[in-house]
Amino acid sequence: MTSPIAHFNGKLLPLDQIAISPLDRGFLFGDGVYEVIPAYGGRLLRAREHFRRLQRSMDEIRLANPHTPDEWIAEVERLLAHHPGNQSVYIQVTRGVPAKRDHVMPAGLAPTVFMMASPLATPSPEAVEKGVACVSAKDFRWEKCHIKSTSLLGNVLARQVSADAGAAETVLFRDGFLTEAAASNVFIVKGGVVAAAPQDNHILLGITYELLTDLAREGKLRFEIRPVAEAEVRGADEIWLSSSTKEVLAVTTLDGKPVGAGVPGPVFRRMHALFQEYKAKLAAAPAVAG
Ligand SMILES: Cc1ncc(COP(=O)(O)O)c(C=O)c1O
Repeated sequence: MTSPIAHFNGKLLPLDQIAISPLDRGFLFGDGVYEVIPAYGGRLLRAREHFRRLQRSMDEIRLANPHTPDEWIAEVERLLAHHPGNQSVYIQVTRGVPAKRDHVMPAGLAPTVFMMASPLATPSPEAVEKGVACVSAKDFRWEKCHIKSTSLLGNVLARQVSADAGAAETVLFRDGFLTEAAASNVFIVKGGVVAAAPQDNHILLGITYELLTDLAREGKLRFEIRPVAEAEVRGADEIWLSSSTKEVLAVTTLDGKPVGAGVPGPVFRRMHALFQEYKAKLAAAPAVAG
């Protein structure tokens, strides 16, 4: 099988011909940031919001952005020309390759830019129909979870808790409150009202989360952004996960106990339908960036 085309520092190359220095600070320190953007039929979902978040992550780690949003979008389009169909575009920028290993940020380094595209794996019809199992864990990650950093060891360890239990995600609690899951945002529904944790430094500012809040407003769902106590999650009628690849997905068991009636609830079904409508409109739109 031929190696898929990927982007490395401005060049399009077969993935297996890209070699990254062992001195790259992304490799040595996880000193970099990333984005994952879904593309439906060549149309990027909320590209501007993804590149705004990339800029925020770069500002937080004091890394100069090598591209404007328009340049980023043009580079992604160039890559997507080699990848038809629905794709997940992965973009990573690290602080580059210094002469020696030193924690201190070296001045004047060119960042390393890497992008790849892979077929977008959204939840199966069965997962949408039946929902998924999750387990919970203490949120032991750092205080800067709003940075989409490639330093993902905390998230890797958290996700493995659910992988070991044969579950789809690990729902995290910090000091008795819901934060998010290892690689998703989390919503609850109680009495027909959707609630989500505030977008502070304890969670990633999910682009899908933002999209769901917009769709909820347009669809006239009752929606609150506020601290959500662990007890509320355990007593919720519905729990949902959201991410660029999961879209919106119902959680039907948490730690082995059924969530509500143990099947995806009516508010989830409404939100899922709104999301599918949004996607269909995006795929039919004339411009690449949505
Ligand atoms: C920790 C974490 N929270 C939330 C999300 C959801 O973000 P988005 O909707 O932008 O994909 C992700 C995405 O991978 C994530 O890793």
